[in-house]
Amino acid sequence: MCGIVALIGSREAAPQLLEGLRQLEYRGYDSAGIATVEALPNGGGAPEGRLHCLKAEGKLLNLTARWEEQGAAGHCGIGHTRWATHGKPEERNAHPHLDGSGQLAVVQNGIIENHRSLRELLQAEGVMFRSDTDTEVIPHLLARRLDALEKEGHLIDAALLLRAVQEVLPLLHGAYALAVVWAKAPGALVVARRQAPLLIGLGEGEFLCASDTPALAGFTRTILPMEDGEVALLTPLGIELYNATGERVQRNPSLLTGTEHVADKRSFRHFMLKEIHEQPETAALWVARHLPEGALVALPLDEAVYCGVERIQILACGTSRHAAQVGAYLLEQVAGVPTTVFYASEFRYAPPPLSPHMLTIGVTQSGETADTLAALTMEQQRRQRHGDPAYAPRMLGITNRPESSLGRLVSHILDIGAGIEVGVAATKTFMGQLLAFYGLALAFAERRAAAGLRQPGLPDHGRLMALVAQLRELPALLQALVEDHDRRCAELAHLFTDTQDVIFLGRGINYPIAMEGALKLKEISYIHAEGYPAGEMKHGPIALLDARVPVVSIAVPGTVFDKVLSNAQEAKARDARLIGVAPACPDTELFDTLLPLPIVDELLSPLLTVIPMQLLSYHIAAHRGLDVDQPRNLAKSVTVE
Ligand code: AGP
Repeated sequence: MCGIVALIGSREAAPQLLEGLRQLEYRGYDSAGIATVEALPNGGGAPEGRLHCLKAEGKLLNLTARWEEQGAAGHCGIGHTRWATHGKPEERNAHPHLDGSGQLAVVQNGIIENHRSLRELLQAEGVMFRSDTDTEVIPHLLARRLDALEKEGHLIDAALLLRAVQEVLPLLHGAYALAVVWAKAPGALVVARRQAPLLIGLGEGEFLCASDTPALAGFTRTILPMEDGEVALLTPLGIELYNATGERVQRNPSLLTGTEHVADKRSFRHFMLKEIHEQPETAALWVARHLPEGALVALPLDEAVYCGVERIQILACGTSRHAAQVGAYLLEQVAGVPTTVFYASEFRYAPPPLSPHMLTIGVTQSGETADTLAALTMEQQRRQRHGDPAYAPRMLGITNRPESSLGRLVSHILDIGAGIEVGVAATKTFMGQLLAFYGLALAFAERRAAAGLRQPGLPDHGRLMALVAQLRELPALLQALVEDHDRRCAELAHLFTDTQDVIFLGRGINYPIAMEGALKLKEISYIHAEGYPAGEMKHGPIALLDARVPVVSIAVPGTVFDKVLSNAQEAKARDARLIGVAPACPDTELFDTLLPLPIVDELLSPLLTVIPMQLLSYHIAAHRGLDVDQPRNLAKSVTVE
C-alpha cells in the first residue's frame, strides 16, 4: 500500500526514481509523484537548490509522460506511488506534499493518526492546506521548525534538516515511513520509519531508499533495512543512522540474495497468470526443503514452537485467512490440536479470554498487513502482562517476507519461500501458505503421537506417510492441472460476459477454497460472488439462484462428496448453471461443465481445487479486458488499519 523511493547520488535522480516506482507500482497505483532537488551554482556561499515537483493522477505512465515533457533535474529526490487513504485519488492529493514556500517536499507511507488536530493547529497559525491528506501536515510542521531553527541562527545544512525531522517526528502519531528533501540542503535526504517498512540500498556513490525490495533489486544487492523509530540522513558521502532517542547507530548491511526480489512478467500477459503457473515450482521447492526422504516432515522451527501446545489461534486477513482456515482444519483433523481462526481486524477489538499453552500464528504473505501486525502485537502484550508462564506469548509467523515487520515482531518464522508476488490477487503465496500448514499439521501430528496423545479417529502413521507420498507428487500434479485448466477456463470465460453474481460452494476442507474462489473473482473481475458452505444454501442463499447465477461447486471424493453433490442438485433444480470442480466420474455428470481433477486424499484436495478457482477468475477478468494485476481500489499490502 503506497510505495516510496528516494535517491541521492551523482546521477540524475528522476529516471531512477521512476524505475523504482515502476517496480513498486503494484503496491498502489491511483496516483504518483516525484520531487527532485537541483543544486544551483552558489558562488562560494551556502549550497542552494531548486525543488521540482511533478505529480499525476492514475497509473505511473501518466507521471512518466509528464516528466518527459517537463523534466525534473537534480541528483537527489523522492518518489511515491499512492493507494488513497485520506483524500480522493486526485492529483492534488498525490505525494510529494510541499510546505507553503514550495522548498520542502515529503512522501509518506502509512497514516498520521492525529493529522486532524495538527491541521487545525497549523490552520489556526495561518497555514493554507492544498490537499485533503494526512501527510501534508508533515511538510508544514517541518517548515515551521526549520524557520525557527534558522531564526535561532543555526547553519542551514543537511544536519539542520535532520534535526528538524527528529524534532517533528514525536508530534506524529501512527505508523509511517517517510522521506524528505529540502531545496536549501540539496545534498541531503532524510528518511524515517515507524512501524512501516523502509530499506536503504547502498550503491556506488549513491543511496536508494525504498519501502520494498523490488525497487532496490535492480539498483544494488547491499541493503540496510531500517528498524522501528530510526531516522537516517543520506548524503552522497554516506549514511548517518539514528535511533528513536537520537543516538547514532552502526549496523552492517545485509545482502539480497536470489532472483525472487525481481519483478519480471516473462512472456505471460499478466503477473497473476505467471504466478499461477509458478505454483508447481513453489510446491517443488517446498517438497525439496521440507519432505526429506526417510522423515515425515522437516520444518526449520525450534521445538519451543510445538512443546506443550494445547490450543492454536490464527490471525490473518483475506486470502491468508482462507489458508488459515484450511490450516485449522488440518491442525484439528490431522494433529488433533483445537484451532481457531480470527479475522485479524476483528481480533484486536474483541479478543477471546486468554487460554494457557496457546500458540498464536500470524499469517500474512507480505508480513506488513497492519491489521495482522496490530492484532499480534496486542496479543503479545496482553500475554506478557499476564505474568503466568503458562500464558506467555508463543508466536509464529507464516510469511513470504521473513525480512518484513512480521519477521521482527514474532520470535518464530516459517518462510513460505514463494518468491516475489506482484499480482494484487494472491495465488502462489496462497499455495505456499497452504503447504506451510500441511507441514505444521504433520509436525504436530508426529509429536503428539510420540507423546502418546494421538486421538482416535485421526489419521494413523500409515495414512500420514501416504499423505507425504502424495505431497511428493504434488508438483507434477499441479503442473498438469495448471496447463489443462488454463485452457479450459479460457474457453469458459466467455460464458460470464453478462454475469453479475456467482456462488461458490464447498464443504469441509474445501469450504475455505470456495470462499477463496469468490474472493478472487470479486477482486479482479468486480463480479459479485459468495463462497458458502454447500449445506448452508438451503438456509437462505438458495433464494438468489436462477438461470443467471452460475454455481461453482467443489466436490471431491471423501467425507462430504455425496452431500456436496446433493447440494449441487438443489441448485440445478433452481436452473442455476452448474460448474463442477470434481473428478470425472458418473456421479459428476450432473454438472453442466466439469473442471476435472485427479483424485487425491481428500485432505490434500485444497492444493488442487484452488487452481480452477484462480484460473477461472483470471480468465473471466482478462476476458472482460480488466487490469488483472492492478484491480481498482486494491493494493498488494494493506499497511493501514
Ligand atoms: C488476496 O488476493 C488479497 N489481495 C487480500 O485479501 C490479501 O490476502 C490480504 O490483504 C492479506 O494480505 P497479507 O497476506 O499480505 O497479509
